[in-house]
Amino acid sequence: MKKMVGLGLALAMATSLNAQQGKLGLTDAFVDKNMNDAVAQYRTLIARVPAGVLPRTVNKSDGTLVTAKSNSWISGFYPGTLLYLYEYSGEPDLLAEAEKRLQLLEKEKDNKGTHDLGFMLYCSFGNALRLTDNTYYQNILLTGAESLASRFNPTVGCIRSWDHNGDKWKFPVIIDNMMNLEFLNWASRISGDSKYADIARIHANTTLKHHFRKDNSSYHVIDYDPETGAVRNKHTHQGAHHESAWARGQAWGLYGYTMMYRDTQDKAYLNQARKIAAFILDHPNLPADGIPYWDYSVSGPDVPRDASAAAITASALLELSGMVKGKESKRFLQAAEHILTSLSSPAYKAATGTNGGFLLMHSTGHFPGNSEIDVPLSYADYYYVEALIRYKQLLAH
Ligand code: GLY
Repeated sequence: MKKMVGLGLALAMATSLNAQQGKLGLTDAFVDKNMNDAVAQYRTLIARVPAGVLPRTVNKSDGTLVTAKSNSWISGFYPGTLLYLYEYSGEPDLLAEAEKRLQLLEKEKDNKGTHDLGFMLYCSFGNALRLTDNTYYQNILLTGAESLASRFNPTVGCIRSWDHNGDKWKFPVIIDNMMNLEFLNWASRISGDSKYADIARIHANTTLKHHFRKDNSSYHVIDYDPETGAVRNKHTHQGAHHESAWARGQAWGLYGYTMMYRDTQDKAYLNQARKIAAFILDHPNLPADGIPYWDYSVSGPDVPRDASAAAITASALLELSGMVKGKESKRFLQAAEHILTSLSSPAYKAATGTNGGFLLMHSTGHFPGNSEIDVPLSYADYYYVEALIRYKQLLAH
């Protein structure tokens, strides 16, 4: 294995060792089996992906591959997953395929029409830079961070998420946007210009103020007035209804505030992450296998799950467990282990050569939009593999 340290994760993982040492419930053999299976499965995916596009999911009716162009929010996950698999295995064909797809993504560094540049560029070029030290990737990333920063409105104190649905929203900010802040923190560390990290902090603070309910669940979309900064509406787009807790949104918030604590050491972020984790783990609708339904307000044998939310949650909980102590640390670690065990079982992990080449089954993209329900999704695979890599890092100490 190459540099077995996640993006910006060295410090957090080092501090986590005291809390977790000797208490790990999964083994090297577990991680190795699943990572080796992932390498084999992604080789079948590589063989299916046409030139010029990125894999997204499969068509439920006929099993054909559904792809996306570089400007899709999911474009960074396929190269990012390949890079994690390369990090684990050292297999050069995985790096070569990732680098081929990075060429498609490069132009997105100038894309000022989306907030998703953290997903698109940092999960892809960020991992590539970390593993190859190619400074060309650094320049692409710094240009991308500037594009992302252009969407910040100081009156609102947030980065604008979407430009669509202008009839409904004036300045929509979604909880997912927390995931872009890691990219901005990195840009400040590398460039020496604090403005990116300043934007990240202000965005995280505004989100703390307006996105969360008393029970520590989060709204999906907060719409602000860009002239005054006032909240216009608290809505959902992918959740069951405006007051519900969309499962992946809760996972983005958990991961986002855990990461913000790693990067800033601000206890307010740690406390928010702990509260989100408790909301998820205490929820009466969380199934026994730890894989949530697509929204926490719904439950039942026929209700689709969201394995992507579970994978993001597992990756975040592994990091968060190292930031807290005692019973709470143990609880978060064991919850992550439980999720990883479920995701790695035949109920969720596809046999090699099936599932269109993707690793995980049973994710939900956009239930109210009747889109991507109970399917594989490239981002579920990315965070599942990331969580396994993080676990390997814990086992190594
Ligand atoms: N960021 C889009 C989603 O989670 O579906």
